[in-house]
Amino acid sequence: MKNLAWINGEVCDLHEANVPVEDRGFLFGDGIYEVIKIYNGKPFYLEPHLKRLQRSASAINIEIPYSNEELNEHIAGLINQSECDHGYIYMQVTRGCAPRGHLFPGGIRPTVLIYVRAFESVPSRELTEPADCITLPDERWMNCYIKSVNLLPNVLAFQKAHEAGASEAILYRPDGTVTEGTRTNIFALIDGVVRTHPETRYILPGITRGIVLDILKQISVPVSEEAFKVSELQEASEVWTASTGLEIVPVKTIDGKPLKEISPGPVCKRLAGEFWQVVDAECYGGKQ
Ligand SMILES: Cc1ncc(COP(=O)(O)O)c(C=O)c1O
Repeated sequence: MKNLAWINGEVCDLHEANVPVEDRGFLFGDGIYEVIKIYNGKPFYLEPHLKRLQRSASAINIEIPYSNEELNEHIAGLINQSECDHGYIYMQVTRGCAPRGHLFPGGIRPTVLIYVRAFESVPSRELTEPADCITLPDERWMNCYIKSVNLLPNVLAFQKAHEAGASEAILYRPDGTVTEGTRTNIFALIDGVVRTHPETRYILPGITRGIVLDILKQISVPVSEEAFKVSELQEASEVWTASTGLEIVPVKTIDGKPLKEISPGPVCKRLAGEFWQVVDAECYGGKQ
């Protein structure tokens, strides 16, 4: 297994990959990204990730100089060359390189980076130990639906959570509405209905979030994309996070207070089982 990077068509070892210091991604955070899981040597839900990449790019007026078909091919080639069975793909597109200046420079080519990083071992399918979370004000910008590389507020909030002994910060707007986590979408079972923030500019429309919503509908669990307040979160019987990186993670305490029911609860457990069936269907030819 080799961790390989592809930058505008050139492949090299990941640790030797570099971009010029005048790249606008480095100077301004002028770019967008995606993270895609690799299970069994196959990228999981690649199409929705590429669609979101294109949407993020066009929202900031970057035209990716490759079609999704071409990106598909380059990703498949890179996974193949790196002989990666389990790991992830990181993709980043920046506006490109130019002398520093706020104005979009004319005539430059976006920098397109794709890399593969393999995991040391096959990731476990067991639900992880339920997480402790804290709540923090959402200090991000108004366009969180764009998967921008400007992650400073997320990084700072995540660091705060870590220093408080928690593994995720649940973010809320000034009126107390819960948006999402620093790197996850948040679901809460409140009065028998699974709630999550609707797809607005205040959250990233997570690919895993979409899968979770589909599963819940399929297994007839009442679900509503209706935002909820931090105060309601404290009354939830189950809470979990959903993301590409960590899949489904049950939550057991929020701001030091345990949830009303033992975590993981039955809905979260069932959901996690169903999630792995989706992975099996897509990446293991239907069985594992
Ligand atoms: C802020 C935020 N919300 C939600 C998610 C989950 O999205 P996805 O399921 O597409 O990984 C992420 C993942 O990076 C994120 O950064």
